[in-house]
Amino acid sequence: MNRIGHTITLTLFGASHDSRIGCVLDGIPAGYPVNEKIISADLELRKPSEGIGTPRVEEDVPEISGVVNGKTTGAPVVITFSNTNTRSSDYENLRRVPRPGHADYPAICKYGPAHDIRGGGMFSGRMTTPLVAAGALLRPMISGAGINVGSYVTRIGSIIDRNEYEPEEVMSKSRTNPLRAMSPEIEDMMRKEILSAKSGGDSVGGIVRCIATGLPAGLGEPFFDTLDGEIAKSVFAIPGVKAIGFGEGFFAAGLRGSENNDAYRIMEKKVTATTNHAGGVLGGMANGAVFDFSVSFKPTASIGKLQMSVDLMHHTDAELLVAGRHDPCIANRGAIVVESMTVFTLADLALRGGYLE
Ligand SMILES: Cc1cc2nc3c(=O)[nH]c(=O)nc-3n(C[C@H](O)[C@H](O)[C@H](O)COP(=O)(O)O)c2cc1C
Repeated sequence: MNRIGHTITLTLFGASHDSRIGCVLDGIPAGYPVNEKIISADLELRKPSEGIGTPRVEEDVPEISGVVNGKTTGAPVVITFSNTNTRSSDYENLRRVPRPGHADYPAICKYGPAHDIRGGGMFSGRMTTPLVAAGALLRPMISGAGINVGSYVTRIGSIIDRNEYEPEEVMSKSRTNPLRAMSPEIEDMMRKEILSAKSGGDSVGGIVRCIATGLPAGLGEPFFDTLDGEIAKSVFAIPGVKAIGFGEGFFAAGLRGSENNDAYRIMEKKVTATTNHAGGVLGGMANGAVFDFSVSFKPTASIGKLQMSVDLMHHTDAELLVAGRHDPCIANRGAIVVESMTVFTLADLALRGGYLE
């Protein structure tokens, strides 16, 4: 379904080439501040950047209702965007010859001939625009309670940033460049990796590391609506996400308990975990450490090479050269979407758990 959340719900509507797309946020209490500068700054980080992103660029000025004088009114908040820069004819043949790696074939099986194939329909990365606006709109709500969310790109293809960074550094440095890299040197290497894939008509994947500070210990609603479970659900809704790992994630399987456990100490009169292999979550609840997880984005499905597919009309094998305008890498644009879904989920859990007024 197109709705997520419990105390606050987010309903997504529209499709890539519809005249409008948007979302409805219901359940935000009256009186929370909304900051348009934060919304446009976050939307800017989602935009494709020149040379390494799709040439489809939209103005992306949101129309927002349910906010008066910079504050939520308690009514549902509706955020909409116009789609103007569309070229639907590029996609019509995909109804007959679906793209390998994209949602075309299962969507045709599910929705039949009525499926909106234009620009990937509801399975397009374009649908993440309202998600970013929703997350940005909710940022002041959680930052007022001391919770802040940031992210950076740790890997593009074979380029891996193995450095450890302080949360404050992540929240500032990764916002200064379109690759969401932590330094100009790494950005340069990542850019070359994307351009090299692009020049061969190919694409690359990447990994986004997301961190959140200030989570109150206990945040999360076990058994089923756990902190990590709710985050996983909302992050997996982002097109192209293939894996998520909290703290050590998959690598915890290779550690001994003595290596993986985060020892507690009393520091500055507070219970403090001295390491953070758990990524700030135990038993589905925040443990007070930095919340830290990584998300893998696959290489973009729509590539410029001739691929094997099938002709669904004649039920024969076929070859496909994908037209349209595509990103050679989605991880860098996906980073702000991961942050946004995290902000949304933390706001929902915090309100539900009584941590916000
Ligand atoms: C910001 C963003 C931009 C995207 N751009 C493209 C694109 O240009 N071409 C493409 O094939 N997929 C793109 N995707 C990914 C597809 O939407 C996604 O792979 C597809 O819906 C299939 O879903 P799945 O990969 O989650 O299985 C993008 C995803 C995001 C988050």
